[in-house]
Amino acid sequence: MADQVICLVDNHVHPGSHLWGEHGVSYLVEWNGKRVLFDTGQTGDVFLHNMKVLDVTFPVDALVLSHGHYDHTGGLPTVLERQSGLSVYAHPDLYAEHLAIHGEQVSPIGPPVDEAALRAKSHLLYSREPIEVVPGIWTSGEIPRQVPFEVFSSRSLVIHNEKGELVPDPVWDDMALVVQASAGLVVLFGCGHAGIINTLRHVRETRQQQVIAIAGGIHLAGASAGRLEATVQAMEELGEIPQMWLGHCTGDQVVAYFASIWGQEKVHFCHAGLQMALE
Ligand SMILES: [Fe+2]
Ligand SMILES: [Fe+2]
Repeated sequence: MADQVICLVDNHVHPGSHLWGEHGVSYLVEWNGKRVLFDTGQTGDVFLHNMKVLDVTFPVDALVLSHGHYDHTGGLPTVLERQSGLSVYAHPDLYAEHLAIHGEQVSPIGPPVDEAALRAKSHLLYSREPIEVVPGIWTSGEIPRQVPFEVFSSRSLVIHNEKGELVPDPVWDDMALVVQASAGLVVLFGCGHAGIINTLRHVRETRQQQVIAIAGGIHLAGASAGRLEATVQAMEELGEIPQMWLGHCTGDQVVAYFASIWGQEKVHFCHAGLQMALE
């Protein structure tokens, strides 16, 4: 088994790849003879189709869920059908209220499987603390929000407060997956609701190693120019800019903007079918 990260689902696909794209995220990490799935995409159909095209098969050793949004948990029924009793790792707020508001319309955007059904078909483990899922692969644990410009990721994500009013959702369940490769840390983002800077600072503090590569969605689509500039400055303060494979909810213009600053050798579009060797 090669040591690598494979992107199974993303919003982007390469023409002619025969892979399907959708608004969702799923990665498979193969490291040290173990295989960890990170998120399941939005639909079982896309997840299974892309697995087949990429020649990826079950079983896996564990599933980590980045957070409880439908575009990361939508393939759960399909995964549990293929492999029951799977160890599933998530933050304890996975099933906290998750709503989206568009105009007057408020809709639930949580997982398609309720908590009891997930527990019945898997070995569900919640942790706020970082957990070593298999040797060398960690959850980030809950990500402290220290950066003022990364307090909330989106105005359309809401929850009810104690008074029944709709307030912004901090998405406390949002976690990253961290691979402790020999050359440094590789960090996979689901939606990056906690913010790229909050996440990378936390990962560096907890794992005490340099981040050499990141991939996934960092939820900056529609972000203000001020926030993007602040993000660039904060990234540079963190040290060496890692290799970036940005997709899902990052925003195409944001990827292009980062590439204009750090160069196309550093900043790439993520796409389903991406295979990143781990060293
Ligand atoms: Fe997402
Ligand atoms: Fe999300």
